[in-house]
Amino acid sequence: MTPKPGLFISFEGGEGSGKSTQIRCLEKWFRDQGQDIVVTREPGGSPGAEEIRNLILTGDPGRWDPVTEALLMFASRRDHVERTIRPALDSGKIVLCDRFADSSVAYQGYGHGLGADYIRKLWQLAIGDFKPDLTLIFDLPLELGLERASERFANVSAAEDRFERMGLEFHQRLRDGFREIASDEKDRCQIIDASGDIETVSERVILAVKSHIAGQGA
Ligand code: TYD
Repeated sequence: MTPKPGLFISFEGGEGSGKSTQIRCLEKWFRDQGQDIVVTREPGGSPGAEEIRNLILTGDPGRWDPVTEALLMFASRRDHVERTIRPALDSGKIVLCDRFADSSVAYQGYGHGLGADYIRKLWQLAIGDFKPDLTLIFDLPLELGLERASERFANVSAAEDRFERMGLEFHQRLRDGFREIASDEKDRCQIIDASGDIETVSERVILAVKSHIAGQGA
């Protein structure tokens, strides 16, 4: 099954949803078929955007007010799109991205209360109509996600944990926000049930990707 050249897939979800592991599984699946892949992440993904990432993710939870934080996200995203994503797509590669603009809608829009419409305006101003071809939203009950995330963060330095230290209600708003995004944009977004072991979830991911590719040929 061969996708059209220049396929852009984003991975979204709350903390501990396992999306990073699943990106590696899908990367391998594509590579095994001889596809040319770029794996990248947000915030970050280009040298300038990685510098902005450092500003965003370190320090106190209240370091940035929500609007500033949203603007920093879109500044880093613009650089990432221009320097990394668009050139890769233009040369026919598949791009797998750990988070993209839907994270801003969910985190800054729903989580921090700026509203989805406000963030979609910023989206339009910063990168126009540019968006993923397919967005996989990893969905997990709150308790399970936070349990997985806390295990992970017990083993990692506390340097980049600004977001994980935000409250439970915030994480509930996030999950609801992601589900709303998925129902607003059914053609682009697919919810992936992220409960279960790595292989089970990976099978769900591959099924969703195959069905997207099959739809491309239609
Ligand atoms: P990261 O350590 O990459 O976490 P994860 O493995 O959960 O993706 O940190 C990224 C954090 O930034 C994460 O908590 C989500 C947040 N974020 C936003 O709030 N808005 C955004 O637009 C993006 C891309 C990320």
